[in-house]
Amino acid sequence: MIYKNNRFFVENISAINIAKKYGTPSYCYSINKLKNNIKEFQNNFKSIDPIICFSVKSNNNLEILRVIKSYNLGADVVSMGELMIALKARIPAKKIVFSGVGKTKEEIAYAIKKKILLINAESESEIKVIEKIAKKKRKKVNIGIRLNPNVDAKTNNKISTGRKIDKFGVDKKNLIKIINSFKFSKYIKIKCLSVHIGSQITNFRPYTRMVKEIDKILSKINHKFDYIDFGGGMGIQYDNNTKKLDYKKYLGSIKSFLRRNNVKIIFEPGRSIVGNAAILLTKIIYIKETSNKNFVVLDAAMNDLIRPALYGSFHKIIPIIRNKKNIKKTHSFVGPICETTDEFLTTKKYSQTKESDYLAICDVGAYGIVLASNYNLRTKPPEIIIDKSNIKLVSKRQKLINII
Ligand code: LLP
Repeated sequence: MIYKNNRFFVENISAINIAKKYGTPSYCYSINKLKNNIKEFQNNFKSIDPIICFSVKSNNNLEILRVIKSYNLGADVVSMGELMIALKARIPAKKIVFSGVGKTKEEIAYAIKKKILLINAESESEIKVIEKIAKKKRKKVNIGIRLNPNVDAKTNNKISTGRKIDKFGVDKKNLIKIINSFKFSKYIKIKCLSVHIGSQITNFRPYTRMVKEIDKILSKINHKFDYIDFGGGMGIQYDNNTKKLDYKKYLGSIKSFLRRNNVKIIFEPGRSIVGNAAILLTKIIYIKETSNKNFVVLDAAMNDLIRPALYGSFHKIIPIIRNKKNIKKTHSFVGPICETTDEFLTTKKYSQTKESDYLAICDVGAYGIVLASNYNLRTKPPEIIIDKSNIKLVSKRQKLINII
């Protein structure tokens, strides 16, 4: 995704042509970016030969999942729907892990039937339900237990998951209790210890603390795990001040962990695989000039991309035809929805734009379309995939007629 002669291109296709052909707002992916992210992740962790389970919650587009499958990645799923779509993308069941604090009986039964690699349980009650269903089916089910390591990922409060105040996993004391209670179960085999301390983690130190914490716990409990699932959370670069997570440093702490523990590592990356592989194309409907700022009213809104409204997240917004002339006035890029929080970005200056110009909201591949809604009874945007010079509409814009 680059400018050529001041025109923004997704691979070999100019963004203006995509916007004109498919309308706006629309999500637009670069397959090349996606593939490079996968390869970078794989290459970095090659020496420890992990099982990499793409976190389907970040993006569940079937075509994206098919590309991910073609690189032999597995899947991390959190619902029956995600498990079904991962299987539909032909991701082998033996590479699928199922996380989540509230799996229903139906979901557990389905996961057992499909013989997935692990159900990562998050409470004693859940394990009891798994055992009951396994007994009924006369099967021995492989599970993981999610530990809450009480490590602060030092990321956005709303996406932190590893502190003891968070709803996820079980604490150390309960972990030991659970292991002892199910040690001799005929229907449950505790094969994995899983953790996931949060998302958009750009500093490796919380990971180092998490790895150390697990190391300490393993040295104290008398149980052999085949797998340690370190979850996902690897942060990417949304703005110029943040660097993406240094994989090498994270790898360093895992390597030293593996010298003491003979286990297979599982990762569950989502954002780091797909986050920077998409833009949201949008058009300026109106520019409302006020005395102290310009409101740039876009046709995209918080129902299309909720991250800024929900988490105060930053997404760069760029013109798809570059204009070098800057206007020194505050610009607020907002959507048409009747909520003050329906605002994508405020900047002190912006390049000169006018009504009907097209813009691209960047790095929206993860937690973008999956969180879209019909709020204000707006239709969900389409998804378009660009692969070199090929354009493919992989999910159509919703039609009002179908939702009214
Ligand atoms: N594994 C588990 C158990 C998770 O809960 C998550 C994300 C992942 C893996 C993948 O994490 P990632 O590598 O993508 O950071 N909607 C928020 C992010 C929520 C993350 C939820 N769990 C956002 O837009 O930033």
